[in-house]
Amino acid sequence: MPDGMNVDYDGLIPNNVDLNADARVKKALETWHPGYIDWWKDMGPEGFQEALVYLRTAVSVDPKGWAKFDYVRMPEYKWGILLAPRVEGRLIGFGAHKGEPAWQDIPGEYRGMLRRLMVIQGDTEPASVEQQRHLGKTAPSLYDMRNLFQVNVEEGRHLWAMVYLLQKYMGRDGREEAEELLRRRSGDADSPRMLGAFNEQTPDWVSFFMFTFFTDRDGKMQLEALAQSGFDPLSRTCRFMLTEEAHHMFVGETGVQRIIERSCEAMRAAGIDDPTDTDRVRALGVIDLPTLQRKMNLHFSLTLDLFGSEVSTNAANAYNAGLKGRYREDKLEDDHRLIDSTYPVLRCKDGAIIRDESVPALSALNMRLRDDYVTDCQGGVNRWNKVIERAGIPFRLTLPHVAFNRRIGEFAAIEADPEGRVLDAGAWAANRDRWLPTADDNLYVTGLMKPVDAAGAYASWIAAPKVGIDNKPGHFEYVKLWS
Ligand SMILES: [Fe+2]
Ligand SMILES: [Fe+2]
Repeated sequence: MPDGMNVDYDGLIPNNVDLNADARVKKALETWHPGYIDWWKDMGPEGFQEALVYLRTAVSVDPKGWAKFDYVRMPEYKWGILLAPRVEGRLIGFGAHKGEPAWQDIPGEYRGMLRRLMVIQGDTEPASVEQQRHLGKTAPSLYDMRNLFQVNVEEGRHLWAMVYLLQKYMGRDGREEAEELLRRRSGDADSPRMLGAFNEQTPDWVSFFMFTFFTDRDGKMQLEALAQSGFDPLSRTCRFMLTEEAHHMFVGETGVQRIIERSCEAMRAAGIDDPTDTDRVRALGVIDLPTLQRKMNLHFSLTLDLFGSEVSTNAANAYNAGLKGRYREDKLEDDHRLIDSTYPVLRCKDGAIIRDESVPALSALNMRLRDDYVTDCQGGVNRWNKVIERAGIPFRLTLPHVAFNRRIGEFAAIEADPEGRVLDAGAWAANRDRWLPTADDNLYVTGLMKPVDAAGAYASWIAAPKVGIDNKPGHFEYVKLWS
């Protein structure tokens, strides 16, 4: 096995970065560790700290077999520091330093920018654990509960990943940032998490699946862009995080898909051919498709705000410096410097949405990443619609226009409908409840959230998965609640 693939599990902090050879960083992480465990016990899954959960733990970074499954109490999970194997002779792939050897240490002039990138990424990881901490109590099955907890422990590990980089490469500043990452709290009035979507609530399981589909996917896009980094330790860290992130995408996409399957099946069995007849559909104890559409509109628009302003000097600087690339930069064919090129950007001019062809490509990198994100989302939505189509139900889910319900960037100052038509305040207020979840939708969905904790059983509103985790059979006890 190439160097660095096996993980050392002997010490307090599992790692494949030879922590034993680095007394300073080892000490810093061991000092941070108790605060992390306190944070996990306070802010992690509420009511399930003693349960035995069938979790995967990374035991290697070999893409062919890195995970081991076993029952674990979450506070005893092996949160490790795992970097993808080093690629010999790796070169910086873009920006002003294109073609130079990738940096193994932090270039002094980019310290501030790198610190900011790591802290913003790091802050999202514990935030989502905090947002999801009450959901265990209403899990629709043990299978889903286990998936929730798997996502949660891996977000915890992602925090470790960023904290390692901060501690190792940022010295005292890094130690302070690592403390701050444990101090901020999602939704807290005084010290909230850094980004808006990570201060919203995740009150029910439909929101959870939408969050993992839409918001974890923003995480995937950001990690893909950072995986291209010329700062090699960041690149290697993000590459391994992406292998875990794939499971989070899976949980979101299949979660929504199973809701759709169940709703369609119930509608067909009851002979309902108007999917917008909400009262009749809800009488079946399933989630009506228009409510799913409204939930989707909310989570999609909140997540788009995470990409920042369409036109951004920060993004241009990070690219030029070789710190944050484009989505799959290494697969793109152009000069990878973007000095003279432009990229089309949707802008708001005099209250109208126009396509501006004149924006320098370097300044439009947030927009470009967001476009790649929308394409990635659309693939999942198409697969959801196949399920509805196969059931013969006349309804299709659609992603709203990027100008819909935005708080950051070009469209923050206007209101637009899901088709992208600009509205005055009156028209928005009169129609808002058609497009975003209403109090009534939330009440109905919350009412459905009753825990189902018998092995192999599922709540009325969601279909069983086709295959078990780790190929386990349908009745497998994914969480042992009373052990
Ligand atoms: Fe993450
Ligand atoms: Fe994630």
